[in-house]
Amino acid sequence: MLSKRIQKIQPSATLSINAKAIELKKQGVDILKFGAGEPDFDTPDNIKDAAKRALDEGFTKYTSATGIVELKEAVCDKFKRDNQIDCEVSNILITNGGKQALYNCFMAILDSGDEVIIPSPFWVSYADIVAVCEGTSVYVDTTPNNFKLTAEMVKSAITPKTKCLILNSPNNPTGMVIEKEEIEKIAKLALEYKFYIISDEVYEYFLYDDKEMFSIGSISEMKDLVFTVNAVSKSYSMTGWRIGYITGPQEVIKPMGNLQSHATSNPCSISQKAALEALTGPQDSIKQMADEFVKRRNYVYEEMSKLPGFKLVKPEGAFYAFPDVSGAFTNEVNDSFKFTEFLMEKAKIAVVPGGAFGEAGNKYIRFSYASSMEDIEKGIRRIRDALL
Ligand SMILES: Cc1ncc(COP(=O)(O)O)c(C=O)c1O
Repeated sequence: MLSKRIQKIQPSATLSINAKAIELKKQGVDILKFGAGEPDFDTPDNIKDAAKRALDEGFTKYTSATGIVELKEAVCDKFKRDNQIDCEVSNILITNGGKQALYNCFMAILDSGDEVIIPSPFWVSYADIVAVCEGTSVYVDTTPNNFKLTAEMVKSAITPKTKCLILNSPNNPTGMVIEKEEIEKIAKLALEYKFYIISDEVYEYFLYDDKEMFSIGSISEMKDLVFTVNAVSKSYSMTGWRIGYITGPQEVIKPMGNLQSHATSNPCSISQKAALEALTGPQDSIKQMADEFVKRRNYVYEEMSKLPGFKLVKPEGAFYAFPDVSGAFTNEVNDSFKFTEFLMEKAKIAVVPGGAFGEAGNKYIRFSYASSMEDIEKGIRRIRDALL
């Protein structure tokens, strides 16, 4: 009796690995978890205090379904300040996490059979959201170019049905960043072939070495074609608060708000006040997190590269390492899913199989270094021992 639409959706692999690790932990097994897609830091105190104030002041009722005006203004200021994206309050929708921004956007632009180009490996939810919106995902394999998407790759996937391309830089799961020059070339393609770009920038502050953020939405000619999605989730360690936001052409943002008004109504009123503080208050917690992540990234890169059968491209952003582990495969353990099970059983560590991020990822695993340095050191030691 289930609809065809809902049968297209798979449960999130990241969440199910986490559930398995929690179950084993409950049984007393000493599992170290490297599957998480969230910073391991606490939400900063100034943000928590803003939420407490909202509660005390009785800010606990419905707000406008599309978010409070002060938060939309703060989002506009943030886009102008950090991303050079020109926008107004009418271009902004506040959502229940970045995920709902993406969902609303695909719901608003996709008709049955419209194609969405997804650079692969990709964050698990893109394909499922596209499927439920009755779109068709067209994957572009970035593995031959160290996970770096090029305009040429995009061009080869364009058809008359192409409605949209997803950009996700810094990238989950690969940690790679697309260079400004390449993004400019991709923008030219979108203008020539008239398709939308959804730029998912939730990891924007976690950039290492000399990497810089370049938002495609800052190219003024692209104003009518780009949606920029972001959230306070990763930037301020607020994954549980569920506040995301999106800017884009008004004629699409408005119907997205209508959809939201019938689906969830407003994002949590208290979380909106907390997000307002996050965006307008002190920003030093971001630097502290990024400084810590870069130390861990350096350690993971160095030590993981020495593991037998592991090959790792140095991650440039986010908090994930995505090693090619096919050199450690055996006759029985011969794909990323089996390798992940092997690591869970033998090394007592939880990672996410690369195959969960699309077929192109099946030689890889995703190791999140949003874990304490002590656990990371222990975890890599355990992998080494399991492989000997
Ligand atoms: C690439 C990417 N986009 C969007 C999201 C969704 O973030 P949120 O928790 O704000 O819904 C995630 C979360 O893991 C992500 O990795």
